[in-house]
Amino acid sequence: MNATMLVASLAAASANPNLEFNVTKFVPKQSVVNGADLRYRAVENIVYVQRPVDEKYQTLNVYVPEAYFNGETVNGYTSRSAPIFFPNYVGGYMPSMAQKPGAGMESRNNAILRAVAHGYVVVTPGARGRTLKDESGTYFGKAPAAIVDLKAAVRYVRSNRGKIPGDTGKIVSNGTSAGGALSALLGASGNNPDYSKYLSDLGAADARDDVWAVSAYCPITNLDNADMAYEWLLNGVNEARSFGRSLPPLPGGKPPADMPPAGPPPGAGNNPFGQPMTKPGPMTPAQQAHSAALKGMFPAYVNSLNLKAPNGPALTLTNDGTGSFQEFVEAYVVQSARSAKEKGTDVSATPWVKMVNGQVSGIDWSAFVRGVGRMKQTSAFDGLDLGTGENNLFGSTTVDSRHFTEYGMKNSVAANAGAAEKSVIRMMNPMSYLGTKGTQTATHWRIRHGTLDRDTSLAIPVILATKLSNLGLDVDLALPWNTPHSGDYDLDELFAWI
Ligand code: DHB
Repeated sequence: MNATMLVASLAAASANPNLEFNVTKFVPKQSVVNGADLRYRAVENIVYVQRPVDEKYQTLNVYVPEAYFNGETVNGYTSRSAPIFFPNYVGGYMPSMAQKPGAGMESRNNAILRAVAHGYVVVTPGARGRTLKDESGTYFGKAPAAIVDLKAAVRYVRSNRGKIPGDTGKIVSNGTSAGGALSALLGASGNNPDYSKYLSDLGAADARDDVWAVSAYCPITNLDNADMAYEWLLNGVNEARSFGRSLPPLPGGKPPADMPPAGPPPGAGNNPFGQPMTKPGPMTPAQQAHSAALKGMFPAYVNSLNLKAPNGPALTLTNDGTGSFQEFVEAYVVQSARSAKEKGTDVSATPWVKMVNGQVSGIDWSAFVRGVGRMKQTSAFDGLDLGTGENNLFGSTTVDSRHFTEYGMKNSVAANAGAAEKSVIRMMNPMSYLGTKGTQTATHWRIRHGTLDRDTSLAIPVILATKLSNLGLDVDLALPWNTPHSGDYDLDELFAWI
């Protein structure tokens, strides 16, 4: 692209002061999905707020089955009744451009086109991320920028009801890892006024931002309690290991063109874009002591949530970290082994699976935990040296990285360490909003977290799902067998669930 074209395309992108979707901009497209021709129409690079701070990221793309322009149906859906699939592609809390089919992230694009082929209207939002910085050195993508952007994009879609095809009452958010966390947060915090000021500063459309359903793959969420949860699971496992490339099979594998170059070689605990999220190796005695301390704090947190099993009993932990909550988490792993076996996987070869008469009778919890291992040294999320991606997420306009837990702040080894505002920490955690007044939480939830996922504790998705289910919401949580940190690996099942 030459300079004139660049200026022209930027001007085209920004000329949208009324936030009105222009139906004349649809471009016919064609592709092949699962061996079948797919015809669809696209409008791309729509800036979804009136006062963008970054037109590269605050844009969305819209994809619609061609059939809906001819009065036809797909899978029984019409132009009016089709759910709106809303996948974000945030990884590592990094900036993320609105994704397009055919732009290099093959399997991710497949998710877009497969959703279109299934009859969904697909809207892919971009969002700001933690590394963005302007010429004056001011950071502008720190928390809560990404969730504010996703909400603004939902508002844009809803305010253009009838112009963008699809049912704005059936918006289905999807994301993986940090994107899964944002998907969950979007679903949890619908219309909550905490975000209003940020949204009005951007000139977001005047519409609701709640969504109907959430799909979240391995959400790296509940960050302010994630260190305790990690050490509850992994205390005593004193070496952070990498098993090959720890993250990607995240769909796609290849980073988008605008991503910074990949970090250390595969295996170093990278996020889906090849950036380091952790350092492997043995933990120091000091880290082991922090591990024990954080583990010791987890039972009080779990017990404060008043979680209940579906059949009624309270899910709690005693001070040593054992109890009904632990058994409840373990039961999900047992269920995972049973489901895998039913689908024909030979689980008997896995050392921690207990078999009786050819059936899965249980797992050896401790062997399972040791076998999966830890990927992150203590503290896994609120790094005491401010060295994690999450520290970086919780920076400010002027400070690149900050703490976000009392424990991290109190035990910081970083010079001049500061802490994020409580209000910002709250705005990044879906748990803050569940069951609160002034919030419309999504009614349908599908959460997946592979049994081999070491990026956050298994307790994290279980806590989220249980809290949602205790509130009477429809929740489907499963831990897919032998699945590492990844997403979009079961789109047929996801679509069937929708
Ligand atoms: C992601 C992975 C992590 O381990 C983490 O701490 C944050 C985000 C990711 O893959 O998006």
